[in-house]
Amino acid sequence: MRKKTKMIHSGITMDQKTGALSVPIYQVSTYKQDRAGEHRGYEYSRTGNPTRHALETIIAELEGGKAGFAFGSGMAAITSVMMMLDANDHIIVTDDIYGGSYRLMTNILNRYHIHHNFVNTTKLEEVEANIKDNTKAIFIETPTNPLLKVTDIQAMARIAKKHNLLLIVDNTFATPYLQQPLELGADIVLHSATKYIGGHSDVVAGLVVVKTEEHANRLHYIQNAVGAILGPQDAWLLMRGIKTLALRMEAIEGNTRKIASFLESHKDIKHLYYPGLKHHPGHEIAKTQAAGFGGMLSFDVGSGEKADKILQKVKFFTLAESLGAVESLISLPAKMTHASIPKERRAQLGISDGLLRLSVGIEDVEDLLEDLQSALE
Ligand SMILES: Cc1ncc(COP(=O)(O)O)c(C=O)c1O
Repeated sequence: MRKKTKMIHSGITMDQKTGALSVPIYQVSTYKQDRAGEHRGYEYSRTGNPTRHALETIIAELEGGKAGFAFGSGMAAITSVMMMLDANDHIIVTDDIYGGSYRLMTNILNRYHIHHNFVNTTKLEEVEANIKDNTKAIFIETPTNPLLKVTDIQAMARIAKKHNLLLIVDNTFATPYLQQPLELGADIVLHSATKYIGGHSDVVAGLVVVKTEEHANRLHYIQNAVGAILGPQDAWLLMRGIKTLALRMEAIEGNTRKIASFLESHKDIKHLYYPGLKHHPGHEIAKTQAAGFGGMLSFDVGSGEKADKILQKVKFFTLAESLGAVESLISLPAKMTHASIPKERRAQLGISDGLLRLSVGIEDVEDLLEDLQSALE
């Protein structure tokens, strides 16, 4: 099955009983047992729900893994995966990571003695240098939020294998349509499905896919024990979103390339971060490990004041947190998604007060270009 067909025909695509072409929303918490302890596959919806199961089956197939798991948010997914670690374990984390993941590492997991080092994972020698006796995992985001840094997944997998570490990849920006980390050697792939997978700014969700049966059993145990599950209505919305993921990603990518080339030649742009540009340091790796460069780009206009003016002027780029939807969004990471990262740390990473991030949607690109042009004036 080719990729576009997979988006439509993967997993459980219909109701076997009625032939309905959409999986029903099983709005249910519990299930009748035929005898005590004898059930028909479902006993309680925290443990398993048929609508959630259909979604979990689809995402497992799309990512090429053993099993999928759906959570109430991307952060619930990441937290549940981190629960696979034990106290006193150490994890290497991409330095330019989503602010919420940074907050989880620095303010929550540290209290349970799960230690971390933020490392520039685009530099293999830095990753190797940070491996300690108690290191158990490498957690990368690629491309990153908001600087679009690209980490070489295959190289990370080689390091992880050599040191017997888990390789966990946040694939939110790339989506399973463009990038499949498990095929490149990762052990676990996860998503904020709130973004491209949902695609319509109407659901908050997280998805995880694992490669082995052992990890599937462990994560299912955690999902059931911790209970951060996705509800059936939201699971249904994600399945609906997946059906158009290929079309949306292609339209989004086409628009993003045009916007990137417009911004690249604009005199007021100090830095433009987009892996599709030839001079982007991760361009060659992105080309080999993904089928496209995605729909996210960031650019520095030099000051917070200037960025603010642009935010006030744009019409078709809505000022909002989040990304990956059909409508174009604009944000100021330093004050929004990455406000939980201390200012000095943001400065070190290059997340300046004048850095704007675009999530390009599927509008007519001419309207988007005109909008940016007049806002930049
Ligand atoms: C790359 C990345 N990972 C994880 C998350 C967290 O996902 P959620 O907001 O669904 O909890 C986000 C949210 O913006 C994100 O951008």
